[in-house]
Amino acid sequence: MATAAHDLTSESLEAHERLLIDQAIAKHGNRPGALLGVLEDVQAANAHKYLSMAVLRYISERTGVPPSTVYSATTFYSLFNLDPQGDNVICVCRGTACHTRGSRILLEKLCLDLGLSEHESGETKETEKLALTTADNRFTLRTVACFGQCALAPVVEVNHHILSHVNERTLQREVKALTQGRK
Ligand code: FES
Repeated sequence: MATAAHDLTSESLEAHERLLIDQAIAKHGNRPGALLGVLEDVQAANAHKYLSMAVLRYISERTGVPPSTVYSATTFYSLFNLDPQGDNVICVCRGTACHTRGSRILLEKLCLDLGLSEHESGETKETEKLALTTADNRFTLRTVACFGQCALAPVVEVNHHILSHVNERTLQREVKALTQGRK
């Protein structure tokens, strides 16, 4: 995982970031699942929807939860991001139903349109997890194992909005609208 040097300690956090985390911790208290609630709130408040190492360390310090436990929670639950996310997040389903209905082609076309290199070598396998962000941070392209909406395959989620029976044309229209700031 790429981590900026200044991210390594919680001392690098700004006062307002510490305050926000303290407030989230106070809000969730010692309730079961409090750690997940704190992580979720703190990530939601971040402009790039991610949790830095400094943030995780500070949460650990303030809650007394060991750093390894905090880190494990962020890697276990797919909703947490450890890298900055693009302004727009597109998630392509790579489950079997979507795969057989052409999700790989949709994924490859998206990579091409967004100027992302999907993979250095070979084709994307169904099971491979992907998370790529454009250099300008406008788009993050991810894959998911299954949205649980297989009857609607192929399924693509754009900024938390599920699109069903997606084809190249509809996807291209979505991306164009986002690029032009119409969404
Ligand atoms: S395989 Fe795509 S929604 Fe289930």
